Amino acid sequence: MSDLRHSAAPRDVLGRPLHDLRISVIETCNYRCPYCMPEGLTPDETPLDRASRLGFDEIETAVRAFARLGVSKLRLTGGEPLLRKHLPELVARLAAVPGIEDIALTTNGSLLAGQARALREAGLHRLTVSLDALDPALFRQLSGGRGNIDDVFAGIDAAQAAGFRSIKLNCVVQRGLNDDQALAIAERFRGTPHVPRFIEYMDVGNCNGWRREGVVPSAELRDRIHARWPLQPLTPTYRGEVATRHGYADGAGEVGFVSSVSDPFCGDCHRARLSADGQLFTCLFATRGQPLREHIGRGEDALAEHLAGLWRMRADRYSEQRASAPADRKKIEMFYIGG
Ligand code: GTP
Ligand code: 5AD
Ligand code: SF4
Ligand code: SF4
Repeated sequence: MSDLRHSAAPRDVLGRPLHDLRISVIETCNYRCPYCMPEGLTPDETPLDRASRLGFDEIETAVRAFARLGVSKLRLTGGEPLLRKHLPELVARLAAVPGIEDIALTTNGSLLAGQARALREAGLHRLTVSLDALDPALFRQLSGGRGNIDDVFAGIDAAQAAGFRSIKLNCVVQRGLNDDQALAIAERFRGTPHVPRFIEYMDVGNCNGWRREGVVPSAELRDRIHARWPLQPLTPTYRGEVATRHGYADGAGEVGFVSSVSDPFCGDCHRARLSADGQLFTCLFATRGQPLREHIGRGEDALAEHLAGLWRMRADRYSEQRASAPADRKKIEMFYIGG
């Protein structure tokens, strides 16, 4: 199997292999974070009817084909993936696909308390929970007035009890809004196996009104944390890791920084994204996707061949080209593609 996979592994135009697949299982969310799904500018309810979403059989076929091309890591995303019915069943099916070694999920945590155990038992390996603030009122504001931080902490506690050992906590940092929360978040998780990750606010999509002034460069945040609790760089867990890891010099754990704006990491980008309605996106900032549903219908072999052809044509490196990209470039929205 591994020989077959190796020989079938396509490289894109820039020589990058295909390792990770991020699957959006649903394109809506119960939050309205202004940087992702600003209220009033995004659909109230789901923009897709249920029939246009890939079913579990289709997702499994897609994953079998991707696995043959070298994908060993999956990440389930949304919108908010825990809104998708029977998600543990999907996790169990994907965990059984030959070649899949790691399945992770990115969630806003609001519904996690009720689902953590079932997800763990189904074979989910890792969890990332969004956490933009510790202050309850600010947290609520940053979720578009919908989130309750107590639910998120109940979710994290339940996940811990269910056996998720090291949970990642994603904090999208915006200057003047929540950058003062970074130290509090770092402190809250010091001495635990959990890993806060501070993410530069990105210009994904067209509806969040992104401005460069809202970005806090990771180096600045790292210096702020380092001044309080000295940090030292850690080696990446894998080549092309999205976050840069730093450990506390006193051994109290680690934090990560995702610096897509100040320090792009396209050179090693080996991620493909599958939207809930079955389109392939080869970059988070893509203008359009490639419809896969018909190809999925033709089965694993034909799909694998089609995907290999698409990957070989890939030349995306948006974050490296951001400065010269036209301001009116049309980009797919984050809640649709799952981050
Ligand atoms: P692991 O390293 O496998 O744990 O996952 P991850 O860090 O890729 O997952 P996560 O969903 O937590 O992503 C963290 C942040 O990085 C999110 O804001 C993503 O949108 C962003 N991100 C992930 N992949 C990419 C990428 O390829 N390009 C850019 N620009 N941002 C990315
Ligand atoms: N910039 C940076 N990160 C974002 N996310 C959503 N929108 C943005 C943005 N504009 C993050 C979410 C989640 C992850 C999947 O992507 O907070 O943690
Ligand atoms: Fe929902 Fe996550 Fe987007 Fe916030 S960032 S609106 S929680 S999908
Ligand atoms: Fe990959 Fe596109 Fe992100 Fe660059 S901007 S790292 S090519 S997803």
